[in-house]
Amino acid sequence: MSALLAAEGVGRRLPAENVTLVSDVTLSFAAGEFVAITGPSGSGKSSLLYLLGLLDRPTEGRVLLEGRDTARLSPADLAALRLARLGFVFQFHFLLPEFSALDNVLIPIRRRGALEGRAARERAMALLDSLGLADAAQKLPEQLSGGMRQRVAVARALANDPALILADEPTGNLDTRNAAQVFDIFARLVAEQKRTVIVVTHDADLAARAARRVHLVDGRVVSDEAQR
Ligand SMILES: Nc1ncnc2c1ncn2[C@@H]1O[C@H](COP(=O)(O)OP(=O)(O)OP(=O)(O)O)[C@@H](O)[C@H]1O
Ligand SMILES: [Mg+2]
Repeated sequence: MSALLAAEGVGRRLPAENVTLVSDVTLSFAAGEFVAITGPSGSGKSSLLYLLGLLDRPTEGRVLLEGRDTARLSPADLAALRLARLGFVFQFHFLLPEFSALDNVLIPIRRRGALEGRAARERAMALLDSLGLADAAQKLPEQLSGGMRQRVAVARALANDPALILADEPTGNLDTRNAAQVFDIFARLVAEQKRTVIVVTHDADLAARAARRVHLVDGRVVSDEAQR
């Protein structure tokens, strides 16, 4: 069976600045994997996540999603593929402040257009409910706690039923309890729904909860190990 996502000899250079962000990364991720990417500040974790998430293109090597070489795809095709198959969570929630939690989750569903009207609303409500946010649906982001806002961001990432969730320091602004809750959600998405979660974190305790840990130094993978 082919991997859900694969990086083959991936590198990312900024020729103008003569900077190398990522070098010669070969990694493969199967459905149902929970992977932590760790490494010191500046080691290229975010850069690698953007390449894996098709938000940036490698200058060397290639990234395959579900066996498709994404280098051949136009920016519009890449955007459509991201919207349909990938979900992103960042350190900052990036919810739209003037929209309710429900509408923030509905926006990507409507943009994709696979569900309409009532079906779209029902999907968004079910996602919020599954994350303990049913009562928050009509609230604006500013009316929610930081932990709740980040869970709305997770609901939004799940809006179009993605195979793969990519998260960059998703707990960076959360206290220990809310951070653990986000990791509980990720673990559940993997165990119960066979989604793949790739999460960048500098928190060693949280990284230890992933089944696999990829460690970067200077843009290179220095270890890739199964944990417990
Ligand atoms: N546009 C850019 N121009 C020049 N250097 C850059 C640019 N973007 C990133 N870098 C450098 O590339 C390296 C990798 O950056 P990246 O943000 O991927 O690291 P990181 O592991 O995510 O760091 P952090 O833990 O601080 O988030 C860093 O040394 C960074 O300063
Ligand atoms: Mg980073």
